[in-house]
Amino acid sequence: MAGFREYKIGARIFGLALGGSMTITLFFPSINIASTSSTDVALAKQLAVGHETGFNLDDPLLQGKNKPYVVYLKNDPKTNQPLAQAMTVYVYPAGAPFPAGIIHPRILGEGIEQMSVEQGHITDARKDAGAVFALDKGVYQGKQISFINDLTASKGWAPADVMRVAKDEDVSHAGKGKTMFVREGCWWCHTLLPEQTQDWQVFGAPPMQGDFNGESPTAFGSDRKAPDLLHVGSRNSSKEWLMMHFFNPRLVQPHSIMPRFDYLWGEKDASGNKIDYVKWRAEYTEYTEGKRVTPPDVPSYASDSEIRSLVDFMLSLK
Ligand code: HEC
Repeated sequence: MAGFREYKIGARIFGLALGGSMTITLFFPSINIASTSSTDVALAKQLAVGHETGFNLDDPLLQGKNKPYVVYLKNDPKTNQPLAQAMTVYVYPAGAPFPAGIIHPRILGEGIEQMSVEQGHITDARKDAGAVFALDKGVYQGKQISFINDLTASKGWAPADVMRVAKDEDVSHAGKGKTMFVREGCWWCHTLLPEQTQDWQVFGAPPMQGDFNGESPTAFGSDRKAPDLLHVGSRNSSKEWLMMHFFNPRLVQPHSIMPRFDYLWGEKDASGNKIDYVKWRAEYTEYTEGKRVTPPDVPSYASDSEIRSLVDFMLSLK
C-alpha cells in the first residue's frame, strides 16, 4: 500500500507541473506574435527568399527549385528603355510559390496588409502566371509605411520580360542560396542571431521582433561554433574572398575548421569547362607541402551553380 501512495503523490506532482506549465504556455504569452507588424527587413526578406527554404513538397531534396530572383532593374521590361530610376524587384517565375505574406496578407501587419491588398493588388497575383513584386512607400492613417506592390497587376510587367532585360550581374539568387544554407547545415556552426551585449560590436545589431514575419525556417542556429552571419554581407562583401573561402577555407584561414564546399561548383566552371577536382586537390596538397609557391586558382563559378546562389545569399545578409 505504501508504494501505491507514493505513486499517487508522484502522479499528482507530475500533473501539477504539466498543468502549470501548460497554463503558462497557453494563457500567459507575454508577446502576441500574430500582432507584430512586419518590419521592412521582413518584407524584403520574404520576397527575396520565397515560400519555404526548408523541407517542403515542392522541393523535397532542397535543390532550391522554384525560387524567386531579386533583380536590380534598370530598364523597363516592356520597352527596354532605361527607367527614370533603377529599382529592386522580386521576380517569381511562373510556378514559384509565393511567400506567406502574399498568401496570408494578415501576417504583414496592420496597415501593410490593407495597403498591399488595396493599392498593391497582391491578391491578384497568380502562381501559374508568376508575378513581379516591389516594395513601395505609402501613407496609412497619417503614418508612412512600406507595402508590397504587385507590378504584374499594376503595370503588366511579366516575370519573363523582367528577366530578359536584366543583366546577370544585377540578379541575385539569394532565395536558392538560403535553401543551400539550410541543406548544407551551415547553421550547425553559424548562427543568424547576434545577441545583445558584446555581439553587437562584432556581428552587428540583434534583429527586431518583426524581422521574421513570413520566414520559414528562420535558421537562427543554436550552438555557435563560428561567426554569426546575420550581417556578414556588410562586413565581408568580397566575392573573391567568399569564393576562395567556400572552395577551401584553408586558402584564406589556415586553421579554419569549416568544411570545404567545392562540390557546390558542380561539374562545370563559368566557361563551361569541366572542373578537375582531383587535379586541384593534388596541386593544393603540393602547395601545403611547400612544393608550390601559390595555391591553384579557384575556378570561377557557372551563373546557375549552387555556389553562386550561396554567395548571393551571403551578400544579401546586410
Ligand atoms: C564545422 C563548422 C562550420 C560549418 C558547417 C560551416 N562553417 Fe562557416 N565558418 C566556420 C568557422 C570556424 C569560421 C571562422 C574561420 C574561417 O573564416 O574559416 C567560418 C567562417 C565563415 C564565413 C566568414 C565569416 C566572417 O565573419 O567573415 C562565412 C561567410 C561562412 N563561414 C559561411 C558558411 C556557410 C554559408 C556554410 C554552409 C555552406 C558554412 N559556413 C558552414 C565554421 C563552419
